[in-house]
Amino acid sequence: MTKINSISFYFIIVLGLISIKIQLSGGSELTVKIPRANLTHVPKDLPLTTTTLDLSQNNISELQTSDVLLLSKLRVLMMSYNRLQYLDIGVFKFNMELEYLDLSHNELRVISCYPTVNFKHLDLSFNAFDALPICKEFGNMSQLKFLGLSGSKVQSSSVQPIAHLNISKVLLVLGDTYGEVEDPESLQHISTGSLHIVFPEKREFRFILDVSVTMAISLELSNIKCGFEDKECSYFSSALFKLRKNLRLSNLTLNNVETTWNSFIKVLQLVWHTPVKYFSISNMKLQDQVDQRSFNYSGTSLKALSIYQVVSNVFNFPQHYIYGIFSNMNIQSFTLSGTHMLHMTCPSQASPFLYLDFTDNLLTDMVFEDCRNLINLKTLSLQKNQLKKLENIIFMSAEMTSLQKLDISQNSIRYSDEENVCSWTESLLVLNLSSNMLTGSVFRCLPPKVKVLDLHNNRIKSIPQKVTKLEALQELNVASNSLMDLPGCGAFSSLSVLVIEHNSVSHPSADFFQSCQKIRSITAGNNPFQCTCELREFVKNLGQVSGEVVEGWPDSYTCDSPESVKGTPLQDFHMSPLSCDTVLLIVTIGVTLLVLAAIVAFLYYCFDLPWYLRMMCQWTQTRHRARKIPIEELQRNLQFHAFVSYSGHDSSWVKNELLPNLEKDDIRVCLHERHFIPGKSIVENIIHFIEKSYKSIFVLSPHFIQSEWCHYELYFAHHNLFHKGSDNLILILLEPIPQYSIPSNYHKLKTLMARRTYLEWPVEKSKHGLFWANLRATIKVKLGNQAETTCHLQG
Ligand SMILES: *[C@@H]1O[C@H](CO)[C@@H](O)[C@H](O)[C@H]1NC(C)=O
Repeated sequence: MTKINSISFYFIIVLGLISIKIQLSGGSELTVKIPRANLTHVPKDLPLTTTTLDLSQNNISELQTSDVLLLSKLRVLMMSYNRLQYLDIGVFKFNMELEYLDLSHNELRVISCYPTVNFKHLDLSFNAFDALPICKEFGNMSQLKFLGLSGSKVQSSSVQPIAHLNISKVLLVLGDTYGEVEDPESLQHISTGSLHIVFPEKREFRFILDVSVTMAISLELSNIKCGFEDKECSYFSSALFKLRKNLRLSNLTLNNVETTWNSFIKVLQLVWHTPVKYFSISNMKLQDQVDQRSFNYSGTSLKALSIYQVVSNVFNFPQHYIYGIFSNMNIQSFTLSGTHMLHMTCPSQASPFLYLDFTDNLLTDMVFEDCRNLINLKTLSLQKNQLKKLENIIFMSAEMTSLQKLDISQNSIRYSDEENVCSWTESLLVLNLSSNMLTGSVFRCLPPKVKVLDLHNNRIKSIPQKVTKLEALQELNVASNSLMDLPGCGAFSSLSVLVIEHNSVSHPSADFFQSCQKIRSITAGNNPFQCTCELREFVKNLGQVSGEVVEGWPDSYTCDSPESVKGTPLQDFHMSPLSCDTVLLIVTIGVTLLVLAAIVAFLYYCFDLPWYLRMMCQWTQTRHRARKIPIEELQRNLQFHAFVSYSGHDSSWVKNELLPNLEKDDIRVCLHERHFIPGKSIVENIIHFIEKSYKSIFVLSPHFIQSEWCHYELYFAHHNLFHKGSDNLILILLEPIPQYSIPSNYHKLKTLMARRTYLEWPVEKSKHGLFWANLRATIKVKLGNQAETTCHLQG
């Protein structure tokens, strides 16, 4: 535990049956929860920095100083539903921060007090105290907001110590033996805004407690059983009757009421003439028959009556009498929910009802049929009933000329537009049709001024072409239907909120945002998006409207197909513009080809591309060949890289260009003027040096042809050299030689020229580099006697 030092974490340790949840947040808050773990003692090893400790629903029967002594930061201690019998508030004397203590539902009988604790919330309700557990010291708890008490004896004197406190809420649970010795005035010193009294369960209400003396604005009474032994419910009735005097009282709530129909009506009638404005009953069981007495509606302060969860074991009672009592009530707001009510009649005259909530009953389409007296009604909820035909509801609404909000969700409503009656009340602004069986046809008949329309969870496959123009519609919820596309806003020009998640939208129209200019928020997640080119535009538009507008973005927006991208978030789905736009693709290819052609043409004309190509070609061939010739063979007997033959007219080119360019790369060149052996015939010399050289270079020019070539023709003819392969020959064409100027008996030269197997000396200086590199590559080879730098004749 001491290793806990991260700012925020959460983990669970399971030690046998004990599960401990520790939650640390914000550094200063540490919550430890060990509920339902059969603990018999407060665990010893709790983190010392615990601020909230929940040990409820265990078997702890003792609480000692040592249990909580070290928890100096403890603010909240929850120990309800344990087995504590004795409480010494002094155990908390070192827990200076403790402000919330819940010890309800224990077996506490005795409490001993300690002066310096200052709780905000102290719950001692549902215990076994005899007298109320109120110490003198409680009078010091100036911060107290909630006080839960229980006792079988409630006496004015015992409440005295806290009379001067102003507690927001007091819960008073009366023990099972309450009522034997009763002090009717005991509540008068409890000073609270809200008082909740829980009477003993299952016992008939025969108490003389005067609830009217309370100062509370809000009074809640639980466990009221009456009208059985005491047919007239006289005790409870007289308690309610006294409330007439209490002008402060505004809210009255009754919980867990078990009575007869007659007593219920009587209670209603009594409350009708008290100052109570808001009356609420929940969990009521009604029995017996009803005597049809008339109800006196006059002079009431009541504004709202709410009744939740009613069961009745009587089936053949005069329903119309009961409905009549309800529907003719002269109050503004009436809720009747969770009953098995089948019908509700129309008020017999113009009704002041503004708000009617009949959620969760068994009402049918007949409800308020042809009812012209609900002229003030603004809100009507018929949620979760048995409504079936929308036509009937439309008829019903037609008479409710003030109706603004209608909730008929969670019924089984269908609509067939065959009858062509569409008489919705014009006043309707909010219509909830969710969770019904409606199809797209419902769009043919909707209230013309509706602003908020909820159609989620129906059976809408598409929105028809011809729909009611809903120019005021701002919010449309069509989630959980089977729509294939987003609706356009042609008919809904004011649409600003669209919810269309959980539908079948696979490729939403990209022009949605154009059509729906006023859209502020769209929720379109969890649709089976098909991630193809069409979706690109939509995603782009989604991206442009900001994240606030697109609800659930990016998490609930994923590709569903094609299979290869299934599950990819739409956010990460990209398709290049090229692959999606055919025109663009064709244009791009065309332009690329044009540019390439232009470059080729440009190179051809400006840089003599063919010359370069030939050079490159020769280069590669040379490389290729060089690799094939065994080195050893070359090294044997060779002394020179190249033998150069040229005409005297070209000697300046040879000396100034050729030699420097070859020799700078350690290429050994043999020239006849340097190396020819005097005394031997020219042809003999030529033959000798050609054999000692790796290559023979001939510098061709018109002069050369005229003066020198004859020697070679002779030599070539003699040695048949060309037939072994002309690999050793390199012809450099220094100046162009017109074909006609070659004498006709120079066959070999003619063939060589025709095959263009020569290197052309380029006139442009820029090409010289490549020319020399090419030439050097052709003749560069490792020779045997590298050390020898001078070239001389051997043998
Ligand atoms: C419509 O009713 C359902 C419950 O049936 C509720 O969840 C939803 O919020 C209501 N819609 C509107 C717009 O009030």
